[in-house]
Amino acid sequence: MALLNLSLLFFFFFYFIGADGAVFTLQNRCNSTIWLGIQAGAGTPQLMNGGLELNPGQPINVNAPTGWSGRFWGRTGCFFDQSGKGYCATGNCGGGVAECAGAGGEPPATLAEFTLNSPLDFYDISLVDGFNIPVSIVPTGGSGDCKSAQCLSDLNQNCPHGLQVRRNGRVVACKSACLAFNQPEYCCTGAYNNPNTCKPSNYSRVFKDSCPAAYSYAYDDSSSIFTCKGANYLITFC
Ligand SMILES: *[C@@H]1O[C@H](CO)[C@@H](O)[C@H](O)[C@H]1NC(C)=O
Ligand SMILES: *[C@@H]1O[C@H](CO)[C@@H](O)[C@H](O)[C@H]1NC(C)=O
Repeated sequence: MALLNLSLLFFFFFYFIGADGAVFTLQNRCNSTIWLGIQAGAGTPQLMNGGLELNPGQPINVNAPTGWSGRFWGRTGCFFDQSGKGYCATGNCGGGVAECAGAGGEPPATLAEFTLNSPLDFYDISLVDGFNIPVSIVPTGGSGDCKSAQCLSDLNQNCPHGLQVRRNGRVVACKSACLAFNQPEYCCTGAYNNPNTCKPSNYSRVFKDSCPAAYSYAYDDSSSIFTCKGANYLITFC
């Protein structure tokens, strides 16, 4: 009886207060297997030890606890040996390991970023460090604004010269201007470290034209950050 009451209490707490975390459903619509990288924000737990293999058409659910923050990205062109050591052509982490275990991905890579229960969930697609594959975030079952965040165009197809990352003659990723040229006006650093001085550049506009709902440079907040409450999230790659 006491046990039942306790579980009911928890049920009501999580159901009505909405203080639960989220279920991320990860889906690969690319033509080949990708490896996901997941990097948790400071003070929140790593999910799946930071990496997992994702085959086309086999969604995987990952549970995140209340207050989790972090980022997901796709790694392409990966080869790992039995011990989980190897290399990815894009998004490689930790010097070439299957499970990133807290390490970030080498840019350029498209990022899906989250901060849960703060007190709303905040989420976005970021091209601030560049692009490798299309990514979308679709919230399900939440309340509030809850729009999709997405970069569905293949920016590798119209990546400006000077930003292209090629493997075997093919463009596999597109650097941001900050990553390619490391200039304060592109990186929003130094005298450009605030939204009044750091403006879109001719390079970031190429990103924004293709993907209007994604961050194209550091201060692109107004059209790029989304909120929802109590949702689960479908994250689709390609
Ligand atoms: C997947 O393959 C099809 C057919 O070969 C091709 O048209 C499409 O562009 C490919 N998609 C991706 C994301 O590479
Ligand atoms: C952006 O402007 C710079 C400086 O004017 C120029 O060198 C570069 O080619 C331009 N890039 C694009 C993609 O328009």
